[in-house]
Amino acid sequence: MRVLVFGSLNIDHVYKVDHFVRPGETMSSLDLKLFCGGKGLNQSIAFARSGMETYHAGAVGSRDSDMLTETLRKAGVCTEFIRKKEGPSGHAVIQTTAHGENSILLHGGANQCLEKEDVDFVLGHFSRGDTLVLQNEINQLSYIVEKGRAMGMKIVLNPSPADEKVLSLPLKDVDYLILNEVEGAVISKVPESDEEGILKELMSRFPHTRIVLTLGIRGCVYGYKDKVLRRPACRVKAVDTTAAGDTFTGFFMGSILGGNSVEEALETASAAAALAVSRDGAGASIPTWKEVQEFGSRQK
Ligand code: RIB
Repeated sequence: MRVLVFGSLNIDHVYKVDHFVRPGETMSSLDLKLFCGGKGLNQSIAFARSGMETYHAGAVGSRDSDMLTETLRKAGVCTEFIRKKEGPSGHAVIQTTAHGENSILLHGGANQCLEKEDVDFVLGHFSRGDTLVLQNEINQLSYIVEKGRAMGMKIVLNPSPADEKVLSLPLKDVDYLILNEVEGAVISKVPESDEEGILKELMSRFPHTRIVLTLGIRGCVYGYKDKVLRRPACRVKAVDTTAAGDTFTGFFMGSILGGNSVEEALETASAAAALAVSRDGAGASIPTWKEVQEFGSRQK
């Protein structure tokens, strides 16, 4: 069984700041580091580290992409379906504070230059039973979901970042919807503070979809049919929360596809996300399977 992550690749410019820059303010940062990121790239690394045979599809710029493809390759992800486009790769400007909070500004670049022919070419190499993993940082998303569904692929969607575009996706065709409360509020139209209400509404609107709502330090909750499972977050000192959700998605699904129960997958994903939060960077913060198991057993 193969996992195809069709998603973004970004060069993350991570600025350490005292506080997020305010409207009208000019402020010096305390530090700058470049990391490989993008929700797609991060999730590909997490899937590969959870033991899955992982393929990344997407687009990068023709002149600045080596670090992105090289990072994926080093993590064991197959990169043959990454297309090169004119212009720059996607990038993100990320501010992080000493409390581990972040704010992210995206420029889509090549991530937004996919054509239907690119999608047809990639999906032509996959088949029924393979898993298709998507986020909301590339174009052609509806086309990819519809085509993947028609082929009988299992569809996992992390609708992040959530915007109006997400509402036009064929969400009922998704097998796993993995999202945080902000994204849940956009889709369900239930206020962000009402986590119970968001889960209830999503479960009723998408009865064939397994919902996983991630809630940061409040843990996560899974809902499907009459089953609702909650899991507290593992406690760590937060250094940088970037890619915590991506790490959760990759390890949760990797664990499920590896044949584990939902309870075990939630436990593994929570441990993996906690480790990612305790480290700097996006792709660079994603732990190995062994690190996750060792950390998980210390939590018991
Ligand atoms: O989820 C974290 C990611 O969001 C970062 O790596 C950044 O590139 C943005 O896509």
